[in-house]
Amino acid sequence: MNFELKPLGLVGVSTEKSDALIVLVTQDFKAGKDDLSVLVAQAIKSEDLETKPGKLLCLYKPTQAHATRVVLVGAGTGSARDVRSAIVAGLGAVKSPALKKLIVSFATAAREDAVRAAVAAVADATYSYTHTKSKPEGRTLSKVTLAASNASEVQATFDRAVGIVLGAELAKEWANRPANHATPVHLAQAAQALAELPKVSCEVLGPKEVAKLGMGAFMAVAQGSDQPLQFIILKYSGAAKSQAPAVLVGKGITFDCGGISIKPAADMDEMKFDMSGAASVLGVFRTLAALKPAINVVGLIPACENLINGRAVKPGDVVTSMSGQTIEILNTDAEGRLVLCDALTYAERFKPTSVVDIATLTGACVIALGGVRSGMFSSNEELATALTAAGERAQDLCWRMPLDEDYSEGLKTSFADVANVGGRAGGAITAAKFLQRFTEKFAWAHLDIAGTAWKSGGAKGATGRPVGLLVEYLLSQAHTK
Ligand code: BES
Ligand code: MN
Ligand code: ZN
Repeated sequence: MNFELKPLGLVGVSTEKSDALIVLVTQDFKAGKDDLSVLVAQAIKSEDLETKPGKLLCLYKPTQAHATRVVLVGAGTGSARDVRSAIVAGLGAVKSPALKKLIVSFATAAREDAVRAAVAAVADATYSYTHTKSKPEGRTLSKVTLAASNASEVQATFDRAVGIVLGAELAKEWANRPANHATPVHLAQAAQALAELPKVSCEVLGPKEVAKLGMGAFMAVAQGSDQPLQFIILKYSGAAKSQAPAVLVGKGITFDCGGISIKPAADMDEMKFDMSGAASVLGVFRTLAALKPAINVVGLIPACENLINGRAVKPGDVVTSMSGQTIEILNTDAEGRLVLCDALTYAERFKPTSVVDIATLTGACVIALGGVRSGMFSSNEELATALTAAGERAQDLCWRMPLDEDYSEGLKTSFADVANVGGRAGGAITAAKFLQRFTEKFAWAHLDIAGTAWKSGGAKGATGRPVGLLVEYLLSQAHTK
């Protein structure tokens, strides 16, 4: 799908050919003298069109435009939220296999946040998963033109939003694929495919190399599965070698049945999404290759399954992490922190400016924040502030959570340096406290995306979050250097 931005008001838009034209009509709409504007004004006046977000009026081959279908949609205040609802409603009215060329027109000047929302909403509403369908009904939409009279003012935002769509869609794609089509080896191949892109390189370590590094916690999780673990190292080199990189670490559990501490059967299929952190890292690299910012970024993905066989790790087993700290695995379902802790220790070698891990880590985070904001934990004020701001710019929100030392009490044990679980209370925070023990050497933040990475129910599927947040954060680092 190709996106373009054109400097057109309603007059210009009316002579553009398309299969569908969605006109976003905000409450401050003022009609010009052209036919299309007059039509919109008449519709409002006769109360056939309301400017409330999502209210719409559909026309077929009207003489006022060269589009086959025209939808006038209320876009409220023109805010990101209102524009999103307007586009979802507008696309609902015109979505068909015949829809190949779409124009979305801002009847009034476009706000930057609205441009972003528009690009993301068109992409989101037309995404279609096909990988494991025998008769794929893929996206037919091939060209999307955004028309705004103030196009030049919003061009940079537009370009960024289009770059983020590329990454978010790659993240969605991999997160959506079932676990038998997205094994650790498949993820490694996806990473290697990214290395074909400019400035991206990739290295993959297998079980032998990981054993040599002493990643005992990661290996303990992987030992219950017949699929070999993979440790994926991606590099994006947009700046001089001497410039320290930002590191992203993505949880890559391609399926999480809980291990011996097995999960209940209901909804267990959703644990194919337990590699959404990894998928978001792949997505970020896709976007970086498109936007080519002058920064260095390293992506680390510990990928394996959390399953059960005769060799599976057992509750009470004690393992030695790469950091040297011993861990008592009291619950084999708290596996994410085990694979992440070794990847965090590995990150030290890059002498990074920051390390952000991204993980579908705890059900407790879903209870705390739901599907609206990702949980964000950081011991570093500057990093926490930058991530919050990045989330707001990207419309991919996070919320900072506490890391008081008292929350680590539950992780104490007589049999190792640390246990992998505390109690149920504050579960998202104790998980973060566990990770924090492995992050003393750098500025660190943890994003718990258990609630935001996918949607359950009828519209089950990956969201592509938090690719937008991460990209905005990384781009902000390009400016501060
Ligand atoms: N992948 C899950 C977290 C999860 C659960 C994400 C539900 C989304 C929805 C993680 O590996 C896990 O099982 N966490 C346990 C931790 C517990 C054993 C301390 C959890 O949240 O129940
Ligand atoms: Mn688990
Ligand atoms: Zn998990």
